[in-house]
Amino acid sequence: MVAKLKWSPLLPLLLLLAGMVGMSRAGNIAVYWGQNGNEGTLADACNSGLYAYVIVSFLSTFGNGQAPVLNLAGHCDPGSGGCTGLSSDIQTCQTQGVKVLLSLGGGSGGYGLSSTDDAQSVATYLWDNFLGGSSSSRPLGAAVLDGIDFDIETGNSAHYDELATFLSQHSAQGQKVILTAAPQCPYPDASLGPALQTGLFDNVWIQFYNNPPCQYTSGDASNLQSAWNTWTSSVKAGSFYLGLPASQDAASGGYVPPGDLTSTVLPGVKGVGSYGGIMLWNRYYDVQNNYSSQVKDSV
Ligand SMILES: *[C@@H]1O[C@H](CO)[C@@H](O)[C@H](O)[C@H]1NC(C)=O
Repeated sequence: MVAKLKWSPLLPLLLLLAGMVGMSRAGNIAVYWGQNGNEGTLADACNSGLYAYVIVSFLSTFGNGQAPVLNLAGHCDPGSGGCTGLSSDIQTCQTQGVKVLLSLGGGSGGYGLSSTDDAQSVATYLWDNFLGGSSSSRPLGAAVLDGIDFDIETGNSAHYDELATFLSQHSAQGQKVILTAAPQCPYPDASLGPALQTGLFDNVWIQFYNNPPCQYTSGDASNLQSAWNTWTSSVKAGSFYLGLPASQDAASGGYVPPGDLTSTVLPGVKGVGSYGGIMLWNRYYDVQNNYSSQVKDSV
């Protein structure tokens, strides 16, 4: 009884510490936005309060000396300067602490880097047109994005390590340029392997979909878990995210129903490597399926 009274003042402190540990373990949700005109605005996505990162996708043409082309599906026409109005959305997002990234690549489009000089010129283009530099024709207007995402899925893997290095050199000059990458789950990734070896990426969101050898399949998380273990022990990065389809329709395979995610999949991946949260493809399917809302508290 005496001991109990003596120690009881510590209880609130212990509870507070336990709460802080819990908070530090809570993961983030990252979502791709930009490939479906019916997914709502960028500001809507950020105002939902669901996401820590919104990844504007895609800069689908760049490199090989080509004029870079932004593709935001039905949202706006970048060719006529029609996407500059997104600047105010981007600022809305950033005011709420949501980081806004520009994704390079995607599943289609003509892109690739032909040389070190080409990588340097793409890095300079990105800096001047989307990051802290300046240009008279910034496609998204004056807002300064938080970083660049590499979603390289076609073409060869050459010179992306140099592109990452050149972009990271801007961080040294002041404002941090966040670098993220979205490799496919088979390790190593055919397109991003050398770039990821640089160790320069803050977040790596691994695509556990459209990849039968390593995706979740009808109740079986063993292939996913084994790929997660390999990725997190083989690549040096700030943190790793479980990349998932936001609905059954969002990919040809790999969908994890919310209940399975929280009961089976997340407990397995959270304990291995530097877990950061989940990434969802994409905002449109997330709205349709209400996925983030259902899993957010467990992520
Ligand atoms: C989405 O999921 C949340 C959490 O389970 C729930 O509260 C909300 O009602 C759902 N919204 C819709 C539109 O189904």
